[in-house]
Amino acid sequence: MAKEPARVLVTGAAGQIGYALVPMIARGVMLGLDQPVILHMLDIPPAAEALNGVKMELVDAAFPLLKGVVATTDVVEACTGVNYAVMVGGFPRKEGMERKDVMTKNVSIYKSQASALEKHAAANCKVLVVANPANTNALILKEFAPSIPEKNITCLTRLDHNRALGQISERLNVQVSDVKNAIIWGNHSSTQYPDVNHATVGGKPVRELVADDEWLNGEFIKTVQQRGAAIIKARKLSSALSAASSACDHIRDWVLGTPEGTWVSMGVYSDGSYNVPAGLIYSFPVTCANGEWKIVQGLSIDEFSRKKLDLTAEELSEEKALAYSCLS
Ligand code: NAD
Ligand code: LMR
Repeated sequence: MAKEPARVLVTGAAGQIGYALVPMIARGVMLGLDQPVILHMLDIPPAAEALNGVKMELVDAAFPLLKGVVATTDVVEACTGVNYAVMVGGFPRKEGMERKDVMTKNVSIYKSQASALEKHAAANCKVLVVANPANTNALILKEFAPSIPEKNITCLTRLDHNRALGQISERLNVQVSDVKNAIIWGNHSSTQYPDVNHATVGGKPVRELVADDEWLNGEFIKTVQQRGAAIIKARKLSSALSAASSACDHIRDWVLGTPEGTWVSMGVYSDGSYNVPAGLIYSFPVTCANGEWKIVQGLSIDEFSRKKLDLTAEELSEEKALAYSCLS
């Protein structure tokens, strides 16, 4: 029997990530080829005409799985009945800025949209925050939507995870799909820690295969940490197709599960695992089954890694304080 359509909200849908993301969702890349969808697209009034243009293109593309499109500037209409909320709306950083520099503009959006989601989304709605500063926006959304279970509010670090896989695959000249179990710890910022201590290719440790600790502990980490800035420098716009594709990966694995023996990175509410302060939205290695994520436990953390896990946690605590000062 055909499945009931799932309602998927994309905020900031007239923007550049939105433009790459909505056709992926309508093609079944996010929720599966057997899952019909109704897209809810939200943007702000100055973007209403462009948003309507995106709606026209969705109609023109005649996606078989797409059962309806709501294009609106009304946040209540946008949030009503949604099963998934992909929060992209906000302002991107420009060349020379850190992601937290967009804090003032973006956290207040997340505070107000939290209430709309809490009141109008479907029970058990799963939320993915993409807009920067992604971890802190997700935390603000969580704090101002106390009735949404904290396990349902996540942020995107899958793009960083995929970037790490991409760098290892290029270095070793192997298929990216053969690189498994990299980890992004912490913030989606330049303090994130891309960790390959547990990563493998064809079952062999990446550290042994690369056999160059200086590169793995230096240039590799820096390249992944700075990749967003490198894209901005090259395109004069921040990453969009890779962000959209990674957002689909994040939700797909959360909903449909991670393959046996494989984990991915997600920004989730910290329960204190790995001595990361509880109450931050922090990127951990997770496995997913039955629509729930679980932090992978028991991985060894050496002294080099410990310092990096702590540094990015400190930045998140500072961002949290800064976010509250922006809201007061
Ligand atoms: P964009 O400027 O092209 O699009 C953003 C859209 O959001 C615009 O259409 C804008 O009108 C809309 N918007 C602004 N305020 C809104 C509100 N209150 N409600 C609804 N919509 C609103 O930007 P983009 O390139 O699509 O990037 C969007 C966000 O995603 C930025 O914050 C960017 O930094 C972030 N980003 C995150 C990742 C990640 O990996 N987490 C990756 C890439 C980009
Ligand atoms: C990215 O990582 O590409 C995004 O967060 C955009 C940015 O500002 O770097």
